[in-house]
Amino acid sequence: MIDSLPADDAALALAYAHPLAEGRPYVRANMISSLDGSSTAAGRSGGLGGDGDRRVFAALRAAADVVLVGAATVRDEDYGTPAHPALAIVTRGSIPRTERLYPAGGAEPIVYSGNGGSVDLRSVLDDLYTRGHRRILAEGGPGVLGALLAAGLVDELCLTVAPVLVGGDGARIVRGPDLPLGHWQRGPVLGDDEGFLYTRWAR
Ligand SMILES: NC(=O)c1ccc[n+]([C@@H]2O[C@H](COP(=O)([O-])OP(=O)(O)OC[C@H]3O[C@@H](n4cnc5c(N)ncnc54)[C@H](OP(=O)(O)O)[C@@H]3O)[C@@H](O)[C@H]2O)c1
Repeated sequence: MIDSLPADDAALALAYAHPLAEGRPYVRANMISSLDGSSTAAGRSGGLGGDGDRRVFAALRAAADVVLVGAATVRDEDYGTPAHPALAIVTRGSIPRTERLYPAGGAEPIVYSGNGGSVDLRSVLDDLYTRGHRRILAEGGPGVLGALLAAGLVDELCLTVAPVLVGGDGARIVRGPDLPLGHWQRGPVLGDDEGFLYTRWAR
């Protein structure tokens, strides 16, 4: 028997309260996958989501200090910079100064650019921590998540499993080097009437 995703927003917030780590940032990743392991439907993760997933997405953001995301996801998912939490983007190039990302009078993203090369993600986390961001929500995409995992920098994975089969050749939720096959600890598993599963896994 799987418990239901709380219908009440306060209870949902409590269920997804963001843990803290001592002396370092706590990194929580949030991803969605289809039943056949795709991270996208028609090229976007948003194509997989439902109402419950959008509520979990919002609850995770509300509980975080900063969202960390790769520039490709920013482009493909048309990210904007929210008032909360802060938005941190990694890129090997630059981020266009669009109204979505640099709203007039609004918050601006924190951009980590390797200026042609890669930035060291551990240094990025250290810098975010120095800025006071202790709760870090990594929203992907698969490339950034793979790099964070390869460096042992992810504490927890929140994985929504969408009750759909999409076929095609969409990427899995992690891309990059082989990872050590250590078992992750299963956390609470919730579900909703639409058939979505909301799973949590700790390192
Ligand atoms: N299912 C899900 O939950 C989910 C979540 C997020 C995204 N997605 C999907 O995933 C796709 C995008 O994912 P992706 O894996 O292709 O890309 P990504 O991980 O979002 O971003 C990769 C980009 O981030 C930058 N980057 C990554 N590591 C870097 C480093 N160490 N230093 C500097 N820059 C770095 C580079 O940007 P530049 O190219 O600017 O140099 C790189 O091209 C989209 O289709 C999106 O819809 C799915």
